[in-house]
Amino acid sequence: MNVDPQLDALFKPKSIAVVGASRKPGKIGYEILRNLIEYGYKGKIYPVNPQAKEILGLKCYKSVKDVPDEIDMAVISIPAQIILDVVKDCGEKGIKALVVITSGFSEVGNVELEEKLVKTARSYGMRILGPNIFGIVYTPHDMNATFGPKDVIKGGIAFITQSGALGIALMGWTILEEIGLSAVVSMGNMADIDAIEVAEYLADDPNTKVITIYLEGLKPGKGREFIESMKKVTMKKPVIIVKSGRSERGAAAAASHTGSLAGSDLIYDVAMKQCGVLRALNIEEMFDWARALATQPLAKGNNTVIITNGGGAGVMATDAAVDYGVELLDPPQDLKEEFRKYMPWFGSAKNPVDLTGMATPDKYYEAVRAAFKHPAVHTITVLYCRTAVCDPMELAKMLIETRKEAINKGINKPISVAMIGGVDVYEAMKHLNRNGIPAYPIPERAVSAIAAIIKYSMYVKRGK
Ligand code: ACO
Repeated sequence: MNVDPQLDALFKPKSIAVVGASRKPGKIGYEILRNLIEYGYKGKIYPVNPQAKEILGLKCYKSVKDVPDEIDMAVISIPAQIILDVVKDCGEKGIKALVVITSGFSEVGNVELEEKLVKTARSYGMRILGPNIFGIVYTPHDMNATFGPKDVIKGGIAFITQSGALGIALMGWTILEEIGLSAVVSMGNMADIDAIEVAEYLADDPNTKVITIYLEGLKPGKGREFIESMKKVTMKKPVIIVKSGRSERGAAAAASHTGSLAGSDLIYDVAMKQCGVLRALNIEEMFDWARALATQPLAKGNNTVIITNGGGAGVMATDAAVDYGVELLDPPQDLKEEFRKYMPWFGSAKNPVDLTGMATPDKYYEAVRAAFKHPAVHTITVLYCRTAVCDPMELAKMLIETRKEAINKGINKPISVAMIGGVDVYEAMKHLNRNGIPAYPIPERAVSAIAAIIKYSMYVKRGK
């Protein structure tokens, strides 16, 4: 992979100009500047607007050329009709990367202007993200150069999106769901930098553990490059893609949305399998898997143990395991005997291991500890239905403790949890997620997350 070092100017710029920084709250150019300041970007910020002296307390410049300092990146938020002159100014200033927010290019048939935009930028050695995007976030550098939600939570998941509105909406959703992100990259028309190049860049980013992509389609002729590139990226870290436009009608909708050729879905499906990309059916699944892959180690094998306090939850998880190809381990005799110590006589030491409704947090603790210890167990899924004898927060703390103890002893296995119940259960689930254990509100999602880890782990093992 030949990653262009110019892309550093996009993710880790030392200084940023906001061209078209507006004086009016609510306008895109104002909100981008405000997000940059309020999210705590530590580099220099230079608002550029010929009409203004100062915006949000920062001195304003008539042109980037008037800025008495080097500028790495410019966010451009001025109308398409006047963009070329500004791009020339940026080139003459020696700016390395442009984040072009502006719409009105190939997405509305204005192909010629888009070509001129790229040609002009390239003639000065500048790279372009966009046009027609909401911006870029890179949380390790406290940079939120978007007009989306401000308080993006820091974490290890990078999110690359070809859809602007969906991307912005999902930024808000990740905040609500407490999903930690390393980067959010809006791709728009991909006139220059495309999703493949961004994924390659993030493959070497130490702050990104998992790459997620919302993709509608690639540009014509990019198929082979996509496969070759993703083969390399997936050997470094997991890539999860939601590829929409699966149906014929959906593909037609994608064509009129981003001008993408959605292509035959089967071809995309085969291509993704070939290069180890995990294909999620929808956004929820994508982030469920990403949360698990960002926090859990690779699985040594496919043998899973489900530990539950509810028979029904266990049955649903078993069905899900069969659906997702997760192997339910028939516990060896010694493990069965160990499990039996932590359940009443009417419990079950088979898989799913049913501790019954009498299970207390300490019984869970012992059973999960036994599963961590036993070498035949490769992955663990814990299910919990709210009962009066098992406080959910206490259980969450116990699980965090069990995992910590195992890790301290050099044993690290993927674990996922499903907690079913009311408000206090939801709080406990959040506590688990904040402490590196992926937790979900239904058994199927916990099993699906484990299945994704197993699938990715086996792919990496085969590739090595
Ligand atoms: N250099 C710097 N600033 C300039 C220049 C210049 N040469 N010329 C004008 N400006 C200033 C203007 O004075 C204005 O500042 P003010 O508000 O203080 O007067 C500011 O730049 C913006 O210019 P406007 O002409 O007011 O443009 P406006 O803000 O209305 O629109 C925009 C610009 C946002 C880029 C618009 O053309 C556009 O493309 N909107 C769509 C953006 C978008 O949706 N992108 C895709 C996102 S993804 C999604 O779907 C959510």
